Amino acid sequence: MRKKAISASVIKRLPRYYRFLGDLSLKGIERISSGNLARRMGVTASQIRQDLNCFGGFGQQGYGYNIEQLRLAIGDILGFSNAKKTILIGAGNLGRALAAHMDFAGKGYQLIGVFDKKPSLIGQVVSDLPIRDIAGLDEFCRENRPEMAILCIPREETQETARTLVSLGIRGFWNFTHYDLSVEFPDVAVENVHLGDSLMTLSYHLSHPKDTK
Ligand code: NAI
Repeated sequence: MRKKAISASVIKRLPRYYRFLGDLSLKGIERISSGNLARRMGVTASQIRQDLNCFGGFGQQGYGYNIEQLRLAIGDILGFSNAKKTILIGAGNLGRALAAHMDFAGKGYQLIGVFDKKPSLIGQVVSDLPIRDIAGLDEFCRENRPEMAILCIPREETQETARTLVSLGIRGFWNFTHYDLSVEFPDVAVENVHLGDSLMTLSYHLSHPKDTK
């Protein structure tokens, strides 16, 4: 049982553990030592042990970790046991790509609705879901109670849309717009995604190849 708050940096590392363990499990590997896992992930064994100890530890001294058990336990910690009902706002290029290619179910979400305001998109189907008119958002949310919204709309549309969504019960945003929502909604979980930041970081490393990572 967990006693204290888990640091943000540990939480950020959990998805990577989950992903690596999933790959190992698919290869049919059953157990792994923290040292072996650390080598494969390019981190230290002590970091892995420290991170997992935040949750009570999983390994058995001398036996390593049972990969599938550890993967499921990390999935549990990440909250995958309850599929969180999710809606996508903005079915343009990015929104449609996410709806079509993201494995939401494998990450603890259930995509239940896709919305846009462009008449030519309404009624088209993406990921087996019809694109709905944003005018019906209110009714849909009252009936279906989604708790997470993916925002793929223009920046200037974000603030008002987010306010409406929060008033309709949304508790988390996966925010691809370049509008910072965290300040206005301190009680709502916000993950801002900026692919451009990652690209700029890569540019730094290409420009300073001798710097440590
Ligand atoms: P897009 O123009 O193809 O799609 C935007 C869609 O949002 C359109 O279909 C439009 O009708 C719809 N929309 C506009 N206002 C709306 C509202 N109030 N309610 C519902 N739907 C509405 O644009 P794209 O390329 O898909 O980009 C979407 C957003 O993601 C933009 O803000 C863009 O800057 C951002 N973006 C962010 C990236 C990142 O790494 N975070 C990467 C690429 C784009």
